[in-house]
Amino acid sequence: MTNKVKFTSMDHGTKEDYDLIAIHDSENERSLAKRVIEWLKLMDGDSPYQISRLQHCLQTATRAEQDGADTETIVCALLHDIGDVISPVNHSQASAAILRPYISEKNYWIVLNHGLFQGYYWMHHYDENRNLRDQYRDHPYYQDCVDFCSEWDQKSFDPDYKEKPLDYFIPMIEEIFSRKPRSFV
Ligand SMILES: [Fe+2]
Ligand SMILES: [Fe+2]
Repeated sequence: MTNKVKFTSMDHGTKEDYDLIAIHDSENERSLAKRVIEWLKLMDGDSPYQISRLQHCLQTATRAEQDGADTETIVCALLHDIGDVISPVNHSQASAAILRPYISEKNYWIVLNHGLFQGYYWMHHYDENRNLRDQYRDHPYYQDCVDFCSEWDQKSFDPDYKEKPLDYFIPMIEEIFSRKPRSFV
């Protein structure tokens, strides 16, 4: 059985107790890639699109790779919608938060804002402003996020597109999540 701390409220915890938790936390962190892969598999179901949400992720990542993106960017393309599984209403923020400790500020910003930038392709059908992205026009990563959406994300709903399978990307996911995470506590 797992060793337990002695406290029942945190203010009574000792250094020994918190050392125990730190060991558990780091083991939990090391198995994150495995859980992320399982979350991706949860996206392999029925959807109102012509393909599953998992296929959309795989197509986005395949396009990124074919355009010569580096491994980190490919993994971001693969996981940009992973937040759908645990936080559908703000999926961009959830995806970005999971990836953030392991990726650059630029890739973080793109994943974080991709949902708003994707609005360019559908918001006008609801009499909403499709150009919400313009508020970031002067941001250094604005064009990168425009390109992420136009070249990879918004195109990847095609039942005839030959995306790479999930297994192909697993070593890339493992590589990115084996990096030493930056802390944002
Ligand atoms: Fe998205
Ligand atoms: Fe997407």
